[in-house]
Amino acid sequence: IYGKAEGDGELLNSVLYRDKLARTFNSQGYVNFRNLAKISRSKKKKKMMDGGEKRGVKGVGRNDMAFVEVVECEESDVDDFSGLLGEDFGKRPKWRGSTRLLLLDEQYANKVLDELPEAIKVAFQEHDGQCTRSAFELVKCKLTLLYDYWQLNEVLEALLPKGTTIPSAFETVGHIAHLNLRDEHLQYKHLIAKVVLDKNRPKKKTVVNKVDAIHNDYRTMQLEVLAGNNSLVTTLVENGLRFQVDLASVYWNSRLATERQRLLSCFTYSDIVCDVFAGVGPLAIYAAKKVKHVYANDLNPCAVEYLERNSALHKLDRKIEVFNMDGRRFINIQSSYGLGSLLFRAW
Ligand SMILES: C[S@@+](CC[C@H](N)C(=O)[O-])C[C@H]1O[C@@H](n2cnc3c(N)ncnc32)[C@H](O)[C@@H]1O
Repeated sequence: IYGKAEGDGELLNSVLYRDKLARTFNSQGYVNFRNLAKISRSKKKKKMMDGGEKRGVKGVGRNDMAFVEVVECEESDVDDFSGLLGEDFGKRPKWRGSTRLLLLDEQYANKVLDELPEAIKVAFQEHDGQCTRSAFELVKCKLTLLYDYWQLNEVLEALLPKGTTIPSAFETVGHIAHLNLRDEHLQYKHLIAKVVLDKNRPKKKTVVNKVDAIHNDYRTMQLEVLAGNNSLVTTLVENGLRFQVDLASVYWNSRLATERQRLLSCFTYSDIVCDVFAGVGPLAIYAAKKVKHVYANDLNPCAVEYLERNSALHKLDRKIEVFNMDGRRFINIQSSYGLGSLLFRAW
């Protein structure tokens, strides 16, 4: 169903009219407004493309063309359909074509007007009463919504067996999407990972799954790369600071960000902080920006290597003294320095 846009010679303000109809249809539960919104929203998508992914053939990005492709129309008047995406779709920054309201419900595919939802009939009747020539037309079309159009959970829902929990959430560490798949997902793990990667490119380049619970002293996770590149070395940003980590050999947990901030709020300029289990240095580095001096230690040589790198990255290497030893020994050494009131943390 479409009305004419402003400038098409009709008195109708297409945007207001579309909104009104969409509200009515939504309240009736007939219109999938998300689809309508996406089809009409060419500008945002185009912007994103300009700043992000490379353009595809002839200036049309892979996501751009994929919203809706009209593959077939059953009406004889093909011209009405040629404008379904707007004649200049992709060229203009703003959508200026006629407004369509799409009734995306297959059960109405072969129905005549009288059999359609009440809201649609009312829209026709209302408008017929006001104008000599109806601004609305009911047309049938077949839409193919391609892979790029559908969201992660929708694709997985379609691909995985009925009744399977849809694993649409994951943690992110830099370019890595970290899944925590259940047993029921394991036989589809590569498929799931591929879809997660497709739907989160270009920010995410690698999809991993935790193979086992953390058992070792260094608290590292055993991760299986399921899709994308194999590198687990990444750079992430937490509370405005960049950290380099190698997830294969060091511990990192983004969920501790709030706790780190809480601890940081306890420190003052005159403090000397000893971080006994510093890992790659998330707390030590925040602290070094605030306190007098930081002694940071970890048993894992790889963690210490990244701790040093991250200190240097923030030009804090002179303010953070790094140790690679067992925590007990570290505490003994620091205590023997007689630094007065030391704040030790165990984590
Ligand atoms: C849970 S992680 C915390 C790392 C860091 N505080 C963070 O928030 O990312 C614990 C760290 O303690 C280190 N660790 C384990 N046993 C240790 C020990 N006996 N002495 C010193 N460090 C140890 C591990 O290598 C690991 O980096």
